[in-house]
Amino acid sequence: MTESITITDNRSGESLEIPIVNGGVAAADWSKLLPGVWFYDPGFMSTAACESSITYLDGEAGILRYRGYPIEQLAAESTYLEVAYLLLNGELPNASEFDEWKHEITYHTFIHENVRKRFLDGFHYDAHPMGMLVSAVAALSTFYSDAKDIFDEESRHKQVTRLIAKMPTLAAAAHRFSVGMPFVYPDNSLDFAGNFLSMMWKVAEPRFEADPVLTRALDILFILHADHEQNCSTSAMRVVGSSHSDPYSATAAAAAALYGPRHGGANEAVIRMLSEIGTLDDVAPFIAGVKSGSHQRLQGFGHRVYKSYDPRAKIIKKIADEVFEVTGKNPLLDIALKLEEIALSDDYFISRKLYPNVDFYSGLIYQAMGFPLSMFPVLFAIPRTAGWLAHWQELLDQDSRIARPRQLYIGHDVRNYVPLGSR
Ligand code: SDX
Repeated sequence: MTESITITDNRSGESLEIPIVNGGVAAADWSKLLPGVWFYDPGFMSTAACESSITYLDGEAGILRYRGYPIEQLAAESTYLEVAYLLLNGELPNASEFDEWKHEITYHTFIHENVRKRFLDGFHYDAHPMGMLVSAVAALSTFYSDAKDIFDEESRHKQVTRLIAKMPTLAAAAHRFSVGMPFVYPDNSLDFAGNFLSMMWKVAEPRFEADPVLTRALDILFILHADHEQNCSTSAMRVVGSSHSDPYSATAAAAAALYGPRHGGANEAVIRMLSEIGTLDDVAPFIAGVKSGSHQRLQGFGHRVYKSYDPRAKIIKKIADEVFEVTGKNPLLDIALKLEEIALSDDYFISRKLYPNVDFYSGLIYQAMGFPLSMFPVLFAIPRTAGWLAHWQELLDQDSRIARPRQLYIGHDVRNYVPLGSR
């Protein structure tokens, strides 16, 4: 037998040898020896929920690969749309495949007029754009009657293409609504990131073309945020997808999970934290507060998997310098650098293996590019849609069972109803 473990139930003395396969042991084998004894693992700290071939992480070594390709190479050589194709199809596209893919995405960027005029415009004037995006993605499920044909390859491909293509349009529409600006239609002559920036910033000029340095920087940020194996939002995608819900509803659930400040909302929380700190002199006292528990956590630090520097944060830090060349330096950068310098030399953070994660520097770039804070989780959701959909496709192809974990019941034993008059 290959590598294995043996477990013994001390109540019966029975033992069972279980093989270690792909770094895991099958819970189904445990259950043969331990029927009705569940593995208690809140937060899934030590649980593999699936087998996947999409993304590989090594938290100790700080490695991230999409379909085997190192993130550093993809960030330097590729584009978001090419990476989306890779995540979804498992291989990099050849020239004709890539041209067809780009054409499909480009010609699916429009949203139904009723999505904007009757749905998005129905929100309150100060609605948070991420709340609007989560809702609008779910609403899309009502516009495509074939969305539920999830085992029809052609329909599935159409929904996947629509979702990836329309996320920037929905995102920009939510922003324009929140600032009282008119909706900007997609410009099919621009690339993915350039079209998004046009829909975000175009005013009265006949055509908006962003600075190519900013367009490229945003496209690389989209690459870095495209997937990250079984993170909270992707797990939500897989749980909802396992019920065979349509991909729009599953993507809305994933976006809702991403909205949380512990996850995709962290980049917004980082800027609020840096602004709260305010000056370089206040960095050390703030960190003391974090350590004593009197302050919030260090936003943008720590990670369930990375116990070393998040490889994405290293790349983002380099992009920041290029962006600031164009936009001017974000004054909060010096506070961020000081925070990192102090934290990485402090045993509290070292002992807990807390390093900057993908969110620590990304917000500085978004802010310097003019995005309002409330758009930061939206900027995370746009590219992560490719990863969510790649995992959704994978779970369907694996014929995964419906996600339905067990529990350890710690509530009351049976008891009889007490009439109101006797309570
Ligand atoms: C993302 O999973 C992914 O891949 C996510 C993501 C992706 O691409 O999808 O990488 C994107 O979500 C990045 C993370 C963004 N979130 C933040 O930056 C928010 C701040 N970080 C933390 O809340 C926290 O680090 C988490 C949520 C990211 C991870 O939490 P864990 O793994 O459950 O760790 P934990 O809460 O058990 O913390 C372990 C210890 C605790 O101390 P002790 O109780 O042992 O004394 O470390 C401490 C925590 O208090 N700790 C922190 C801290 N993060 C953990 N202390 C101060 N500041 C922090 N940021």
